Amino acid sequence: MKNSNLQSGGRLVLLLMVAVAMSWLALGLVDAAQINITNQCPEVISACQSNQSGTVTCYALAAGTGSQLIDVGTTWLGGLIWGYPGSSASSIDGNNAKPQADLAEITINGFSNTDSYDLSNVNAYNLGLLINPTTIAPPGNRSGLECGTPSCTINNITSFCTPPNSLTSTPGDGCFNVNGTGTTPTSGTEAFDTACPEAISYSNDTTGKVYACPTGSNYEVVFCPENTILQMNKKNIAAEMRPVYPIVPNAMNA
Ligand SMILES: *[C@@H]1O[C@H](CO)[C@@H](O)[C@H](O)[C@H]1NC(C)=O
Ligand SMILES: *[C@@H]1O[C@H](CO)[C@@H](O)[C@H](O)[C@H]1NC(C)=O
Ligand SMILES: *[C@@H]1O[C@H](CO)[C@@H](O)[C@H](O)[C@H]1NC(C)=O
Ligand SMILES: *[C@@H]1O[C@H](CO)[C@@H](O)[C@H](O)[C@H]1NC(C)=O
Ligand SMILES: *[C@@H]1O[C@H](CO)[C@@H](O)[C@H](O)[C@H]1NC(C)=O
Ligand SMILES: *[C@@H]1O[C@H](CO)[C@@H](O)[C@H](O)[C@H]1NC(C)=O
Repeated sequence: MKNSNLQSGGRLVLLLMVAVAMSWLALGLVDAAQINITNQCPEVISACQSNQSGTVTCYALAAGTGSQLIDVGTTWLGGLIWGYPGSSASSIDGNNAKPQADLAEITINGFSNTDSYDLSNVNAYNLGLLINPTTIAPPGNRSGLECGTPSCTINNITSFCTPPNSLTSTPGDGCFNVNGTGTTPTSGTEAFDTACPEAISYSNDTTGKVYACPTGSNYEVVFCPENTILQMNKKNIAAEMRPVYPIVPNAMNA
C-alpha cells in the first residue's frame, strides 16, 4: 500500500514535470542564452556584438571592472564579439575596428541544440580574449573542445607584429594578419598560431579549435583575461578528464 502510494506519487511528480516543461515550450520560456562581456583590461574599451543579421551594437566597458550582460535569445547565428580601445562605443568605430581585431565567434543553437564557439585571429589581433561557459546545460561536461575555455593573449603587440604582418592604426590598434583569410598557413599566420594555439590563425585552421556546448548554456567573454582567477580555473578544468560530447565543427564567419 505504502509502496503503491509512493509509485503514484512519483508518477504525479513526473506528470507535473512534463506539464511544466510543455508549458515552458508553449510559452517560449526555454532559457535564452546570456553572454556576460567583461573588461579586465587596464583601460576603458568598447565591446561590440553582431550576428549574421549585421547590426553592430557597442558598449563602453570601464577599465578592469566593466561588464555588459547581453541576452541573445534561443538562436543566435554567426554571433561575433570584439573590442577596441576607448569609450566611443559607436557602431561606426566598431565596424572600422572589426578588421583590426580578434573575434569571439559564438553561434547559439546552430544545429540540434548545440552551441559552437571559437576565437579567431583571422582578421587580426588587438585585445586578449577568452570565452568561458559559465553555466553548462545538460548533458554537457567540460572536456577539451566540449564546453572548454579558449583564450588568447599576446603581451606586446609591437614586438609580436613583424613582417609580413603589420600594425594597424585606430580604432582597433591591432596587428593585421596579412594571410589570415587564406586557406593555407604562411609565416604570418604561423606567428599567430604560435602565440595563440587555441585561436584560429587562418580560415581553414579550424581543426581542434571549434568548441561546442549544449544549447541552454550561458557564457562569458573576457577581454584581457591574463592574470585572472579565470586562468587558474581554466588550468583546473583542463586537468579534468570527462566524456566527450560530440563535436561538429561549424563554419563561422570571420
Ligand atoms: C558579469 O561579470 C561581472 C564581472 O565579472 C560580474 O560582476 C557580474 O556579476 C556578471 N554578471 C552576471 C549576470 O553574471
Ligand atoms: C540577430 O540578433 C537580433 C537581435 O538580437 C535577433 O532579432 C535576430 O533574430 C538575430 N539573427 C540571427 C540570424 O541570429
Ligand atoms: C558529466 O560528468 C559527470 C560527473 O563527472 C558525470 O556523472 C556525467 O555522467 C557526465 N555526463 C555526460 C553526458 O558525459
Ligand atoms: C614592446 O615591444 C617594443 C618593441 O620591441 C618595445 O619597444 C617596448 O618597450 C615593449 N613594451 C613593453 C611594455 O614591454
Ligand atoms: C600573403 O599575403 C601577401 C600580401 O597580401 C600576398 O602577397 C601573399 O601571396 C600571401 N601568401 C599566401 C600564401 O596567401
Ligand atoms: C578550406 O575550407 C573550405 C571550406 O570548408 C573548403 O571548401 C576548402 O576545401 C578548404 N581548403 C583547403 C586548402 O583545405
